[in-house]
Amino acid sequence: MSGPLDFVRSLARILTQRPQIPTSLQDNPLLHTILERRSIRSFSGREIGEDVFAAILEAGRLAPSTVNLQTWSFAVFDSAQWRDAFNRPLPFNGKRAVIVMGDTYRVKQVLDVFPYSPLIEYTLAIMNASLAAMNMNAAAEALGVSSVMLSETGQTGLLDVETLQQTLCLPREVIPLMTIVFGYAKGAYPPMPPKLPASQVFFQGTYPPVDMNVMQDWLAQMAAGYKASHLSSSFESQLQVYRGKIGRAEEHLQQCVFYQDQAPWRSEN
Ligand SMILES: Cc1cc2nc3c(=O)[nH]c(=O)nc-3n(C[C@H](O)[C@H](O)[C@H](O)COP(=O)(O)O)c2cc1C
Repeated sequence: MSGPLDFVRSLARILTQRPQIPTSLQDNPLLHTILERRSIRSFSGREIGEDVFAAILEAGRLAPSTVNLQTWSFAVFDSAQWRDAFNRPLPFNGKRAVIVMGDTYRVKQVLDVFPYSPLIEYTLAIMNASLAAMNMNAAAEALGVSSVMLSETGQTGLLDVETLQQTLCLPREVIPLMTIVFGYAKGAYPPMPPKLPASQVFFQGTYPPVDMNVMQDWLAQMAAGYKASHLSSSFESQLQVYRGKIGRAEEHLQQCVFYQDQAPWRSEN
């Protein structure tokens, strides 16, 4: 059982975590940008300039991808366009947003890439689009713009594929993954959330046994960190939000990915 003392201990662990930057590399600005990035959930009223946002988008367009297939599409919004599309404000007072999608539809119009292989097709679409998302996120950070990737915004995330495909008229092979919300951070960056130690995530040789102490410790920190920033909620209740939506979302996604009834590489759109 964990009590108040464990809660305080977990919080103290969170607050004392720091990125490990070798002393010889302390002056490297890119390393700092990457390692000190945080997901930001509170933005100021400052607008993002057109040139700055254009550079962020360019980082997505030029990201690496499998066989340079560029299996992604990005729906781009300012706050007014977001409100028009979804009838609600951008989360966290964000100023711009990009819905990142895995997209194998476009390339299939000109190239028979693989034989019918839905998991490979889906995986590479997700992989490439996620790299593009991270490229945009890193470019933003380098330009002083903060962001958060969201898979759950109520209408525009991984669990809302069906709604988004209807709203944005997306072909079946264009699968929304996340919304990145951009803005200038309001106030200081929050502490780094609990990251697993290097000993748990890197290995050499064969896959090591899971260290249950480390994992329990991490879980306690996750719960404590969540509680500290959402007093009226809990990590577990946040997971429940996801669980509540997963069934229908999974069913729809499977229909998008596995379509044996269709001739390979043909879209119904
Ligand atoms: C694909 C993806 C989806 C995410 N979805 C959400 C979300 O729906 N809501 C949220 O508050 N944060 C979301 N996040 C942000 C994560 O909670 C955050 O990355 C994680 O807690 C680690 O914190 P850090 O980004 O500051 O290192 C998401 C992150 C990723 C990469």
